[in-house]
Amino acid sequence: MHLTSVVVAASLFLIVDTTSASSAAKPSTINRQKIVQSFNVRRTASSKTTPLQVGNGNLAFGADITGLQTFLPYNILSTWGWHNFSLPETATPNNFTGLDWDTHGRLVNYDQPNPAEQAISDWLIQNPQRINLARMGLDFGNLTGASGKAVTKADLVNATQTLDLWTGSILSSFVLNGTAVEIETWAHPEEDMIGIAIRSDHLASGNLGLFIDFPYPDTSKFDAPFVGVYPNASSSANVSNAYGETFQTVFDPWYGTIQRILASKDGTTGASNANDTSYYLQLQWNNYGHMAGPTPGTKGRYVLTAANSTELLFVSAFSSSGDFVPMSFGGLSDASSDWWPDYWKSGAFVDITASNDTQAKELQRRTVLSQYLTVVNSASTNPPQGESSLSWCLVNNGWYGKFHLEMAFWHLVHFARWGHFDLLARSLPDMYTRFLPSSIDRAKKQGYQGARWGKMTDPTGRSAPGEINSLLIWQQPHPMYFAELHYRAYPNASTLHQWDDIITATADFMASFAFFNKTTGVYDLGPPMYPVSETGNPNATINPAFELAYWRFGLDVAIRWKQRLSGNGTANANATATIPKAWIDVRDKLAPLPVVNGTFTTYEGIPNMWSDPATVTDHPALAGIYGWLPPSTSGRQPLNLTVVQNTANKIRTTWDLKNSYGWDFPMLAMNSLRLGDVKQALAYLLDPSFAFDDAGYPAGGSRVPTPYMPSSGALLQAVAMLAGGWDGSSGSHFPAEWNAVVEGFSVGL
Ligand SMILES: *[C@@H]1O[C@H](CO)[C@@H](O)[C@H](O)[C@H]1NC(C)=O
Ligand SMILES: *[C@@H]1O[C@H](CO)[C@@H](O)[C@H](O)[C@H]1NC(C)=O
Ligand SMILES: *[C@@H]1O[C@H](CO)[C@@H](O)[C@H](O)[C@H]1NC(C)=O
Ligand SMILES: *[C@@H]1O[C@H](CO)[C@@H](O)[C@H](O)[C@H]1NC(C)=O
Ligand SMILES: *[C@@H]1O[C@H](CO)[C@@H](O)[C@H](O)[C@H]1NC(C)=O
Ligand SMILES: *[C@@H]1O[C@H](CO)[C@@H](O)[C@H](O)[C@H]1NC(C)=O
Ligand SMILES: *[C@@H]1O[C@H](CO)[C@@H](O)[C@H](O)[C@H]1NC(C)=O
Ligand SMILES: *[C@@H]1O[C@H](CO)[C@@H](O)[C@H](O)[C@H]1NC(C)=O
Ligand SMILES: *[C@@H]1O[C@H](CO)[C@@H](O)[C@H](O)[C@H]1NC(C)=O
Ligand SMILES: *[C@@H]1O[C@H](CO)[C@@H](O)[C@H](O)[C@H]1NC(C)=O
Ligand SMILES: *[C@@H]1O[C@H](CO)[C@@H](O)[C@H](O)[C@H]1NC(C)=O
Ligand SMILES: *[C@@H]1O[C@H](CO)[C@@H](O)[C@H](O)[C@H]1NC(C)=O
Repeated sequence: MHLTSVVVAASLFLIVDTTSASSAAKPSTINRQKIVQSFNVRRTASSKTTPLQVGNGNLAFGADITGLQTFLPYNILSTWGWHNFSLPETATPNNFTGLDWDTHGRLVNYDQPNPAEQAISDWLIQNPQRINLARMGLDFGNLTGASGKAVTKADLVNATQTLDLWTGSILSSFVLNGTAVEIETWAHPEEDMIGIAIRSDHLASGNLGLFIDFPYPDTSKFDAPFVGVYPNASSSANVSNAYGETFQTVFDPWYGTIQRILASKDGTTGASNANDTSYYLQLQWNNYGHMAGPTPGTKGRYVLTAANSTELLFVSAFSSSGDFVPMSFGGLSDASSDWWPDYWKSGAFVDITASNDTQAKELQRRTVLSQYLTVVNSASTNPPQGESSLSWCLVNNGWYGKFHLEMAFWHLVHFARWGHFDLLARSLPDMYTRFLPSSIDRAKKQGYQGARWGKMTDPTGRSAPGEINSLLIWQQPHPMYFAELHYRAYPNASTLHQWDDIITATADFMASFAFFNKTTGVYDLGPPMYPVSETGNPNATINPAFELAYWRFGLDVAIRWKQRLSGNGTANANATATIPKAWIDVRDKLAPLPVVNGTFTTYEGIPNMWSDPATVTDHPALAGIYGWLPPSTSGRQPLNLTVVQNTANKIRTTWDLKNSYGWDFPMLAMNSLRLGDVKQALAYLLDPSFAFDDAGYPAGGSRVPTPYMPSSGALLQAVAMLAGGWDGSSGSHFPAEWNAVVEGFSVGL
């Protein structure tokens, strides 16, 4: 099975290294199963914004109240299913030249939309977009609803469903026209397969079946909650339909294959000009099953029925190659029933159920549900080549389904703190290795050393054109943070070598990006640049406080990395020969963090820091200087904790927190925690603007669609700080009266 080999290859370093894992499994004193299952999600109606999901980080299935996608067309999204629309008539990506901006006296080229190249600029932003692989729902045959019309959700009596977190499956049931219908929905934990069981007497009469439909991609920036469109166009098997799509099908009595081939034209303007995307559904079902389709008058709808049987068992394997060995439904559900309990029993765990405090109850709920959802949505495998790539949200498509490298931190870092290095190792450090060549090209084209990491990224490593995309810099030091946590768990030469090229190229860029200001005698960051908050004039943004702190942290780690390498795993402070002088020079002469009136400011010289509404809004990154980063270990410019405290106070009283979202609250909480204010930390984590729905999905808000998955990872990172502490203050920081039991946490940076 080809996908198995990919998974094995990606987790090789884990297999090699687990022997030295510091968090070797100890018997748990917590009844994890009882706690986990007490948060099983129960619904009696579909949510209009979030599905229930089963999945494995590379493929996920979103279900409505039927356990399928019957009434609400939730999505089946993968890390590898991408589609390009046709190029504009006259241009290719090579025609895109971006814009040149003055950067310290020279012109630097940035990937920004160029008004003279509007068509190709737009195309590069919108393509590729992630494709919704299929929709699967109940076909009601000749059954009708109460009004004699088509069955609607109103015709389902006693509809109920449960997501069992312990096994990663959904059980849904309802009564239709007096007859019970039961549906099980499963995902294979490591391969891209969905398993569905339908049980009902309606099957036997031939009036209940499973339909498979194929949404067509579109170019919505936020395709949520449903991805794609369902144009109605006639089609027949093995013939190109009006949408430039071909379905190649082979159906045998108990199994079959549907190959979907999408040409890049959207079909509205004529014939196709290229085959862009092709993928396979390899299907297997139990006896009595009968597959038919595509249904005339539809764009490509297949229906599987099972007359004479009261049970239909069905498995669909999704792949871009089609060389899968089909697996039985029983085999698939067994694999999931084995994998998920292993996941829950390994790694760290928090038990705050002894507390009757409503805050503890809600925090426990959010924590358990986030532990489930981050695996389903973010534990992607990142094979080094091909169309496959990362995905940190398999619920819907935000930003065309592209992923943002500055968000890697919030999506992934918690796996390290929670002792799930196997899940982290699915994508790191491979993701950085894979994007290293394109990031070296980006830096070189701009006249810098090393590698400049992109932002809004697709499988090719391209960073989508955008003013903010091209001028944001806080994604740059992330590899150092990941590497440091990795080394902490696996302090050996293998870890050092895996990250060395990445860290070296990252630090080389950081050192050459810093501009030596002869007047002040310090290295400046920017202009032009955007700080974390993405606010202000990029041409006037110089020396942002958080980025300066992060630059210093990153260079500290890079320097230490070289010392460790030359000391064969143990720090050798004399290893200066192997450390680029520029790293030390820049770290030691970076501009000081800007302080005015006793508080940090977003950047140096910002006017009206605390009185301009446009300034005290969006991400309050000033709280990250201490909340997220450890104080610098170089001894240079020790952090002034009075200023940190003043800034925290000012943020609390002045910042437009109602307009904050996502990981802002966990970051604020971690800052309060390090400052010793646990009460305030909990208040931030349970702030009304940081909401989680019944299934644990974090609310988006006016700026981003729901769910906004970085909130889930960030919450787990903050809970890890509460449970495991950090250097110099390890252990649990939960209120004593909560009687928290915690196990398996590594100490944070
Ligand atoms: C794009 O580049 C090609 C090849 O250099 C050129 O022929 C074409 O005119 C360019 N298109 C535009 C819109 O500039
Ligand atoms: C920044 O400066 C560049 C010229 O270097 C100019 O083209 C651009 O419009 C300026 N941007 C803003 C937001 O002022
Ligand atoms: C509903 O059930 C009744 C009796 O069980 C049956 O006569 C009728 O045909 C069913 N209606 C539909 C639309 O299947
Ligand atoms: C729905 O559930 C209620 C309560 O369990 C039960 O009394 C009723 O018979 C059920 N209705 C159907 C149609 O099964
Ligand atoms: C559904 O109705 C059509 C038209 O009356 C009929 O041909 C078909 O056999 C029916 N299907 C079943 C499963 O009863
Ligand atoms: C698209 O793929 C199909 C099936 O492989 C092939 O028959 C057809 O010629 C291809 N079309 C183009 C434009 O390449
Ligand atoms: C159902 O069983 C009957 C009786 O054995 C048979 O005639 C019929 O063909 C079967 N239908 C299907 C769809 O298998
Ligand atoms: C919580 O409430 C239960 C039931 O009321 C009680 O038995 C228990 O002692 C309480 N626990 C704490 C820590 O207050
Ligand atoms: C040097 O720093 C000062 C103070 O931040 C600034 O005003 C000046 O523009 C900088 N010089 C250059 C060449 O960037
Ligand atoms: C450290 O020493 C061991 C044993 O001599 C050697 O195998 C290994 O390659 C060395 N590692 C580094 C990073 O030099
Ligand atoms: C570093 O160099 C100094 C001076 O040469 C020496 O005393 C010290 O032992 C060296 N330390 C290490 C770890 O090699
Ligand atoms: C600093 O405080 C003084 C006195 O309250 C005030 O006038 C000034 O505007 C403040 N500066 C900034 C940048 O907020």
